[in-house]
Parts: sequence; C-alpha cells; structure tokens
Amino acid sequence: MTLRRTDPRRAARRADRAVYLRSHPVLFALLAATRHRPLLRLGRTVLVHHPDAYRQILTKVPLDRTAEHTTGGTAARLTGGGLLFDQSGAEHRASRRALGHLLSSEGIAELRPGWHQLIDSRLTGGRVDLVPVVRLLAGTTATALTGSTADPLELARAAERVAAATARTHLPGLPRPGARRRARAAAEQLRLLLPDPQDAMLAVAAVNTTLAALPRAVAWCARAHWWDRARQDPDALAAELLRLTAASPVLPRAAAAEATVLGHRLRPGDRLLLVARHAAQAHRDTPDHPLATRAPFGLGPHTCPGAALARAQLTTLLTTLTPHHPRLHRTTPNPRSALPSYRTCLLTLRGTPSGAY
Ligand code: HEM
Repeated sequence: MTLRRTDPRRAARRADRAVYLRSHPVLFALLAATRHRPLLRLGRTVLVHHPDAYRQILTKVPLDRTAEHTTGGTAARLTGGGLLFDQSGAEHRASRRALGHLLSSEGIAELRPGWHQLIDSRLTGGRVDLVPVVRLLAGTTATALTGSTADPLELARAAERVAAATARTHLPGLPRPGARRRARAAAEQLRLLLPDPQDAMLAVAAVNTTLAALPRAVAWCARAHWWDRARQDPDALAAELLRLTAASPVLPRAAAAEATVLGHRLRPGDRLLLVARHAAQAHRDTPDHPLATRAPFGLGPHTCPGAALARAQLTTLLTTLTPHHPRLHRTTPNPRSALPSYRTCLLTLRGTPSGAY
C-alpha cells in the first residue's frame, strides 16, 4: 500500500480557500466559478476579475463614491459623509495628506516599538490563540493613530461590529431583516468611542483588514512549512502572504460615467464588484502580473494608505514567531466577520530558545 503525502503548500491553500468560501458562500462560489472571464456582466452588475480591468477601473474610470451598495456610500450613510472612502478631488487629497505622516515610514517607525512590545510579551511559548493578540494589536494601533484614550479592545470590537453589520448591507446576498438598523446602532456605539467620523472610518479600515489578514497569513505560513522562508526574508514572505490571502477580497464600487474596459462597455450606475483576490492572482502560486502584490490594497487615488504598516506588522509577527518553531494546532472560521477571518487560530510555540533573537 502506498501512502500519499499531502503537499503542505496545497494543504495551506485549500485550508485558506475554505475560510474564504465560507464567509459569503454563494457570492464567493460565483466569483470562483467565473474567474476565467476578465469581466462578466450579470444585468446591471459587472464582475471584474482581470488585473488589467481592475487597474483601469480604479485608476481611470470615474466612480460614484456615494452610490448605494458601495463601500463609500455605505460609510457615508452611516456617518453623514465626508470620509476618505466617499470623497473625491481636492477634498480627498487634503484628507490623504493629513493621514500621510501618520502612515509614512517615519510614522510607522514611531509606532513600531509599541507593537513589538505587545507582540513579544504575548508570544513567549506554549499554546497561543493568535486572534486576540492581533485584535489587541489592531485596537492599539487604531488608538495610537487617532490619539484616542478608548480601551483598545473595546475599540477593536466596536470596529468589528460596524464592519460586520455594514458588509451585510453592501455585498449582494440575501437581505437580512434589521441589517440597516443594526449597522446604524453599531456605528453609533463606535461614535461614542471615536466622535470624529474620519477617525472612526480609519479604525474600521485598519482593524478589520488586520484581523482578517494576519492570522490567515500566519496559518498559511505554518501549514505550508514556510518558517525557513520567514527566517531568510520575512519582508518578502509578508508581502507574498498578503497577496495569497487578499484579505479584502471584493471591492464594491459603482460606475459614474460611460467607459470601455477590455472591450466591455460600462454604463453610469453599473454596480461593479472588483475582485481584488483575482487581481492579486491569489489563486496562483506564482503570479505573472506585475500588479499582483499591490492589488490586495487597491490601486489609484484611494489605494490603501495602511499597506506599509500592515506589511511591517506581519513581518514583526513572523520574525517573533519563527524562533518558536510554531505548529498550527487548530483554526476556526468566524462566520460573523465582515471579511473572511478566523475566530480562533491556535498555535503551539516552543519556549524561546536562548540566543534566538
Ligand atoms: C492587510 C491589511 C489591509 C488590506 C488588505 C487593506 C486593503 C484596502 C483596500 C482594498 C482599500 C480600498 C482601496 C481602493 O479603493 O482602491 C483600502 C483603503 C483604505 N485602507 Fe486599507 N487595508 C489594510 C490595512 C489597513 C491599515 C492597517 C490601515 C490604517 C492603519 C488602512 C487604512 C485604509 C484607509 C484609510 C483606506 C481608505 C483610503 C481612501 O479611500 O483614500 N488599511 N484598504
């Protein structure tokens, strides 16, 4: 009898894909089944899979940032508008400048000692659930960026509730009774902690993506047995894991003008589902498109200002974990989160070997 060994890389991909598919089963199964079509029109909804179409739409096509069922539109309705996501032109450029220093390399250098200390003190050995550690990391980062005195865990939880409630209102799927009311109530709770809507939006954007991305990236690394790669080049591995997991897999947008993209006509009001996961070629081990590594963070004027921070935090996590020879004990998906995420990600760490750092 021959025993077939499972290829760890394939096992890592399969396990991560299951989290993704489980999060919004019907929508994500449809996207997976249609990914060979660069663009696909279904009535007034256009699925956008190809990296060139994704880039062209985010950089050249006028988008209606306040339309219903878009990220900006949903944020505007919950907060009264005036947020980065729903802005355009000079107003948007001014807001981005204000965020510029906080998320620049100097801004990141100022935050780094805080997150190093937090991660080091919690990942010392034994059985660890990574999700609460990353939740605290994301909440602490959000309080530092907004200058808030709120409790970091309470803030992170509030940001998670807002995102979970709003995802139900802006992604296609079965409408849930009371979804809008719950989204407004969750936004109100967050407003009590962060009264400035711009701060609240920053917290929602930072907490939910970090909480989705980092545990999935570490679980992938552990399942694929990539700790040697983490030791050799943690920055490159962090960027690659963020591409493979594409934490914000779909960007719901709306066309504001006529445009032709890869030979397909778009009309004003078309609902666009920009599949960041496919633009990042997350379904391939080796991407062949030059934008694949950047695509998980969007492109063009609204591209994610927190990308360097996310990469730096994942790099810290990988370099802190590597000397502990982590083994993945168990993961449980989070059925309630806005983005495909784990509810628990249990690792077994060996105690710090002396001289490992
Ligand atoms: C792995 C982690 C992250 C991923 C995958 C991610 C992804 C994204 C994506 C896809 C967008 C939309 C871009 C577009 O429309 O072209 C975005 C926007 C944004 N992200 Fe991130 N993000 C991450 C982490 C963060 C962090 C840590 C912060 C803040 C500290 C942050 C702050 C923002 C903000 C403020 C926007 C709105 C930008 C604008 O509309 O001008 N993100 N992010």
